[in-house]
Amino acid sequence: MSLIDGKAIAAENREKTAKRVAEFIEKYGRAPKLTVIRVGNDQASIVYVRNKKTACEAAGMLSEVIEMPEETEESFLLAKIAELNADDTVDGILVQLPLPRHISERAVIKAISPEKDVDCFHPQNAGLIFNLEEATFLPCTPAGVMELLHHENVKISGKNAVVVGRSNIVGKPVALLLLSENATVTVCHSRTENLAEVTRSADILVSAVGKAGFITADMVKEGAVVIDVGINRDANGKLCGDVDFNEVAKKASLITPVPGGVGPMTITMLLSNTVNAAFAAEERKKQK
Ligand code: GUN
Repeated sequence: MSLIDGKAIAAENREKTAKRVAEFIEKYGRAPKLTVIRVGNDQASIVYVRNKKTACEAAGMLSEVIEMPEETEESFLLAKIAELNADDTVDGILVQLPLPRHISERAVIKAISPEKDVDCFHPQNAGLIFNLEEATFLPCTPAGVMELLHHENVKISGKNAVVVGRSNIVGKPVALLLLSENATVTVCHSRTENLAEVTRSADILVSAVGKAGFITADMVKEGAVVIDVGINRDANGKLCGDVDFNEVAKKASLITPVPGGVGPMTITMLLSNTVNAAFAAEERKKQK
């Protein structure tokens, strides 16, 4: 078994992004800027947003965090997004999820200009995952998974890829990205019958379920590549993925740890989307 070192791969990738940022600044005399909105006091979100800001600044980009109280009205948030959409100095807008229950996530996602939607959650951008050649953005976590597979030279074409989980953020888009590289893709979910039988057919197994210890060794084929997207807490409160790492690692040829696997790649892809947004914005200005 070999470990996929997401932290090291993310660092390599962020260095490349920092170079693109430097080129952008040289060419356009300003730095790409990401604005993140966080509503309420979700503890995990506070950490994630802080990490995003730090990563932007480390890559030479500008980053602004707008914090709003839990009781913020949806109309106020939508008005702020409209203001940021119209602000030429802002290249990327990200509203951290989850939002308080009284705010519609769908309405917020749709309010962000597709040109600044660095999460790639807007239906227009999500639709472009069908037509990758037209896409400015790829969804961050799924793109991060693909980067890890590419970095490790995992053969994707013709292989059986099984994705466990069908969320709009991870399961569905990662299945499409694997399909676009000619994997034979199966998407499993809570209603899947004979789940272990299906997962045992996987040459590449991606788990995005959100349950500690969900993928056990009997569900994994000898020699499989196992990508763990889960971020959970075990019974002792320790950070862990969906995969029973110690047992599954004995069978997998390659496996991502949690922490230090997919996690660092998500922000890495966000940085790269923000630079893409900034270059695209300058291109549009030229064409006006
Ligand atoms: N909450 C957890 N992950 C994400 C993410 O990738 N984007 C946003 N906007 N919120 C999140």
